[in-house]
Amino acid sequence: MDYIAIALFFLVLLIAFSIVWGTLKTGISPMMSSSKARQAMLAEINMDEKGALIDVGSGWGTLVIAVAKKHPKNQIIGYELSWFPWMVSVLFKYSLGLNNLTLYRKDFKSADLSAASTLVCYLFPGGMLALEDKLKHDLFKNITIVSNTFALPSYKPTKVIKLKDFYQTPIYVYHWQPQ
Ligand SMILES: C[S@@+](CC[C@H](N)C(=O)[O-])C[C@H]1O[C@@H](n2cnc3c(N)ncnc32)[C@H](O)[C@@H]1O
Repeated sequence: MDYIAIALFFLVLLIAFSIVWGTLKTGISPMMSSSKARQAMLAEINMDEKGALIDVGSGWGTLVIAVAKKHPKNQIIGYELSWFPWMVSVLFKYSLGLNNLTLYRKDFKSADLSAASTLVCYLFPGGMLALEDKLKHDLFKNITIVSNTFALPSYKPTKVIKLKDFYQTPIYVYHWQPQ
């Protein structure tokens, strides 16, 4: 019994350590988009467009799972670096039978985003800068970007929605065109 308690203690410690490590490495914790943010983002996602939806930092999978359920005929992709949230999202994907959802444990900065017609994100200022840089250099097509809280540093949004929450959280919508 004691051995089980000790093993559980070390497992919890390992998970906590890995989340802190992931946060320090990426610059943001795997905090989920709030339910209000998720609803507002889902409303801005138009999956009539051909192409995949990619979440660049899919965390525990809350957003990609909601999109994959709502749009079962579309390809939904998530990139996530932090292994424990990623593993939990993979468990949900299989237990919910979401065959249209693919989850990579990979840095979005080295990912091929060319399949995307829509990008969603909830990053941080440094992450938005890296994303804008990547889009400028790697992506030569029109896409929609829906970002929770943080704006791209120099690209103008087509729409900004203010959530009715304590922080009046902004949701930025972009119609990105190659420059
Ligand atoms: C605030 S969470 C958002 C999770 C989810 N998109 C949502 O809205 O619920 C941001 C996630 O982005 C991940 N992340 C940050 N930089 C990343 C990178 N370069 N590549 C992959 N994932 C990254 C973090 O590990 C974190 O889990």
